[in-house]
Amino acid sequence: MGGVLVVGGGFLGGAVLAAAGPGASLASRSGGAGVDVRVDVRVDIRDVEAVDAVVERIAPDIIINCAAATDVDLLEGDPAYARAVNALGAGNVARAAQRYSARLVHVSTDSVFDGEGEWYTESDAPRPVNEYARSKLEGEEEAMSAAPGCAVARANMYGRRPGGGSLLDWIEGRLRRGEEVTGFADIVFNPLEVGNLAAALLELARTGHRGIMHLGCGRALSKYEFAREAASALGYDPALVRRGASGGGRAAKRPRNTTLDCSLARSVLKTGLADVREGLAVCGAGEPR
Ligand SMILES: NC(=O)c1ccc[n+]([C@@H]2O[C@H](COP(=O)([O-])OP(=O)(O)OC[C@H]3O[C@@H](n4cnc5c(N)ncnc54)[C@H](OP(=O)(O)O)[C@@H]3O)[C@@H](O)[C@H]2O)c1
Repeated sequence: MGGVLVVGGGFLGGAVLAAAGPGASLASRSGGAGVDVRVDVRVDIRDVEAVDAVVERIAPDIIINCAAATDVDLLEGDPAYARAVNALGAGNVARAAQRYSARLVHVSTDSVFDGEGEWYTESDAPRPVNEYARSKLEGEEEAMSAAPGCAVARANMYGRRPGGGSLLDWIEGRLRRGEEVTGFADIVFNPLEVGNLAAALLELARTGHRGIMHLGCGRALSKYEFAREAASALGYDPALVRRGASGGGRAAKRPRNTTLDCSLARSVLKTGLADVREGLAVCGAGEPR
């Protein structure tokens, strides 16, 4: 057996599966996160025995855990569910990885920080400001405790999501219909194109790096600036993007600046962490939705 097992067939999991090539397997709950990917085995990561059985049967060398509950506003009202999937579920995957000697890369988020600083390093103290982020931080701890040799990758990402639903798909859909886009000028991040992130995660899995690693591009952008870059890259007039401010009407608080310092990744990985212009250039225009 051997090979790569991707857990979680959503936006990132689909990209990792594609990047890992034909020998890789995908385990996910339903594959129904609006993403058209092939799911080899159904598993709910909250079920410790089911996770164990899948890892025993597939016997991978590498597990990339991309499964998560990701609806930030929904999770604000259901912290128990957030914890069950993102913290305890993450621990279940890590325990199975440890038991069957698979190298684990656990995927986390830039949202573990409170966003009051910037360019956070791996040793900066996380301070989550919402339930999603709290559960993801606990998931990091669960993963590292159950599989001490694992790597935890914190990231943010953009790209075309098969089936739609990503930030880029939303921007493109509005621009295609001739509608204006409002981009938050007060939310700042340094995301990676999802295929670029997938390649970095697969390379990280083949290194001996233990613990946290930040993965992002070298440039801080607000969501407003990102939307303008996206409009240009997709062939629309960036003037259709209006400057807006976050806040109001959403259940969960968002951190303001979650830029990740990626010096460690740049020193360990050969995979380049592409600038947003370079990353958007590979995204292309999507199908009408
Ligand atoms: N997207 C972003 O902008 C972003 C930013 C920062 C960090 N991240 C992190 O990146 C990772 C991947 O996110 P994503 O954007 O790919 O999320 P996504 O598109 O929502 O996909 C999540 C996947 O996890 C699966 N899943 C959820 N609960 C499960 C469970 N109990 N058992 C098994 N599978 C389950 C979902 O399956 P179902 O279809 O069956 O629900 C779905 O396939 C996550 O760790 C997320 O926290 C994402």
